[in-house]
Parts: sequence; C-alpha cells; structure tokens
Amino acid sequence: MSHDKIERNVGLMGVLIAVAIASGGLAEIVPVMKTAEQVTPLSGMKPRTALEQAGFDVYIREGCYVCHSQMVRTLRFETARYGHFSLAGESVWDRPFQWGSKRTGPDLARVGGRYSDDWHRMHMIDPRSVVPDSNMPAYPWLATTPVNAAATTRRLAALRTLGHPYTQEDIDGAAAALEGKTELDALVAYMQGLGIHGPRG
Ligand code: HEC
Repeated sequence: MSHDKIERNVGLMGVLIAVAIASGGLAEIVPVMKTAEQVTPLSGMKPRTALEQAGFDVYIREGCYVCHSQMVRTLRFETARYGHFSLAGESVWDRPFQWGSKRTGPDLARVGGRYSDDWHRMHMIDPRSVVPDSNMPAYPWLATTPVNAAATTRRLAALRTLGHPYTQEDIDGAAAALEGKTELDALVAYMQGLGIHGPRG
C-alpha cells in the first residue's frame, strides 16, 4: 500500500510533511497579508504630533510594554473594563506595534482622556501617591530630562519614508514644537492620545 511506502521512506515522508505544512501555512498567511494591505487609519486619525511621537519613543525606551499591552480583545470582560475592542486601523502608525498579552498593569489602548494630565504626572513621578497599592516603578527623571528634539526630528523623517503622512512643515517644525518640553510632557501627551480615535464605550 502507498501509505506503507511513505512510512518506510523517511525522505519521502519528510518531503510530504513539508508540503503539508507549507500549504497549510500559505492558506493561513496569504489571506492575512492581503487584508493587512487593506488596513487603513480610522477616519479623522492624524499622525502623532512631534511631542506625542517623542512620548512614544520614551515609552519604548523605558520598556513600559513589558507590563502594559495596548490591545483590548473582543471578550466581554475586556470591553466592560477598557472600552470598545481595538481595531487594526488604530495602530497602523505604531512602530513597533504595541499589541501583546503581558499585563502586569492594565491595558493602555484606551487610556487617553481617562485621567487628567496632572494625574499622569503624579503617577509617573510617584505611582503610590495616586494608587497606594501600585507596584509600578517610578520614573521621576522624566520630569527633568529635556526631549531630544534632534532625534525626534530624524524619527519623523524616517517614519515618513515608511508611509506616515508627515509634511515637510511637520518635520521642520518639530524642534520648535519640542522647545522646553520634558520627556514627561511628551509621555503624557502620548498617553492622552491613546485610543481616542476608536469607537468609545
Ligand atoms: C513592572 C510593571 C510596570 C511597568 C514597567 C510599567 N507599569 Fe504602568 N502600571 C503597572 C501596574 C501594576 C499598574 C496598576 C497600578 C497603578 O495604576 O499604578 C500600572 C498602571 C499604569 C497606568 C494607569 C492605567 C489605568 O488604566 O489605570 C498608566 C497610564 C501606566 N501604568 C503607564 C505606564 C508607563 C507610561 C510606563 C513606562 C514609563 C509604565 N506604566 C511602566 C505596572 C507597570
């Protein structure tokens, strides 16, 4: 029987296993690549301002993603806690993307507007001053560290080459927009913009 032949011939079995996995993989991956091309920013979404982008970069540098995901799943207990589930169009301009499942702290996909700027400032400088049981680390140096305007300007230019719709004025004006701003100002601006373009509730 042909099945016997396959079982006795390791080389042939290896080739057939590779064919089975490859065709299964293609059937799963190709359609997703097609839909990924069609994902567009939600209507009304603007690329991050220079200050927000600087905040995003601080967020990455400080490793906030180690404890915080930015993806509300479609499960009822998630939407009841965080709001409407995340849509692909909301994160088209996140490089690197911030989805994930590691949640030592709460998901931040819809944290924009949930607290005041002052709350965020106090929370970053000393989390226990606003959430007594918090085990989040403090980031007090952000309040005294100026934003690196040159790095942010280069970042906006690099993002433009990747398709983020920044204009030349956005890039030329970045340094002026960041004048006198601290990394904490940038991080708070970034967090206040999280999830505000998606459906609320
Ligand atoms: C070691 C894990 C850990 C790290 C790293 C961490 N956090 Fe947190 N975060 C938490 C925990 C736990 C909470 C919940 C308690 C609290 O509110 O302080 C929290 C809460 C928050 C909240 C309030 C969310 C809400 O819906 O109430 C924000 C905003 C936040 N973190 C931002 C950040 C930012 C920005 C960074 C990086 C600079 C960061 N976190 C790094 C653990 C962490």
